[in-house]
Amino acid sequence: MYDFNRYLAAKRSVDDRALNRHVWQTLAEALGAAAPADRPLRVLEVGAGIGTMVERCIEWGLFTRAEYMAIDSEESNTHAARARLAHLTSGDKPALQVRLRTADLYDFAEREENRQRFDLLIAHALLDLLHLPAALPSLLGLLRPGGLFYFSINFDGATLFLPEVDPALDSRIEALYHRSMDTRVTDGKPSGDSRTGRRLFHALRECGAEVLAAGSSDWVVHAVDGVYPADEACFLYCILHFVESTLRGHRELDAGAFEAWLATRRRQVARGELVYVAHQLDYCGRVD
Ligand SMILES: C[S@@+](CC[C@H](N)C(=O)[O-])C[C@H]1O[C@@H](n2cnc3c(N)ncnc32)[C@H](O)[C@@H]1O
Repeated sequence: MYDFNRYLAAKRSVDDRALNRHVWQTLAEALGAAAPADRPLRVLEVGAGIGTMVERCIEWGLFTRAEYMAIDSEESNTHAARARLAHLTSGDKPALQVRLRTADLYDFAEREENRQRFDLLIAHALLDLLHLPAALPSLLGLLRPGGLFYFSINFDGATLFLPEVDPALDSRIEALYHRSMDTRVTDGKPSGDSRTGRRLFHALRECGAEVLAAGSSDWVVHAVDGVYPADEACFLYCILHFVESTLRGHRELDAGAFEAWLATRRRQVARGELVYVAHQLDYCGRVD
């Protein structure tokens, strides 16, 4: 059965492989040069989910002395993050303080005390769910002058399920799925764009931010000797669940053909045959 927390946990190994190492390394070097000498680094992660990026930053050694604030709008995610990161929030690691809060990023960004407060802002697998013209100015306003941002896993308009089942149906499902991202409305406002990855470059510049590095971070999921790594078979079933729940009943899709397509794709996962690719881009940069 589908479970969002398990999806985010299963996504960890897929993201680990995908993240662009040039962008990560550029960020690490910029942080090394800009880290404050007299206090811990102030890090904010928005849309932090169950906290896998916190783990990654520590395991990959992005910083050693930091106050890391992670917010997410869903209490169930914050709850899962507290359980997952209990060893980091217990207070026995004074060099690293992790605080987890349930908060909407727009409300958080509006609060006076948060303006220009952070040295590093992270948004991972989030910006393609937001309306960039509204989100970027709010988010970048949280950074102090000269502060750094890391915006990773931004979807960029290509989804492949292989091998082909029926080229025309495969293409139609991909196109309708992307269109659903472009027309999504949350709380009466547009939210998300299937080409966020490529749009970010100029959207950041228009906000006065400087891009220090950008590069692709495609998800590529396949089995080795018939077995998917870690919990990635679950990850694939979740992706198929998203496609199904988004397009079920769509008037431009034959219901029977779509059911058969989903059944075939699920069988391919069970046999270790399905290959899934999603094109994405990572960015890091600085605000002036
Ligand atoms: C695709 S998930 C990614 C989660 C996490 N970054 C990861 O990759 O594991 C997007 C997350 O953003 C959160 N989110 C969406 N809109 C938000 C908002 N306006 N404020 C705060 N969090 C938000 C969702 O609850 C969800 O956990």
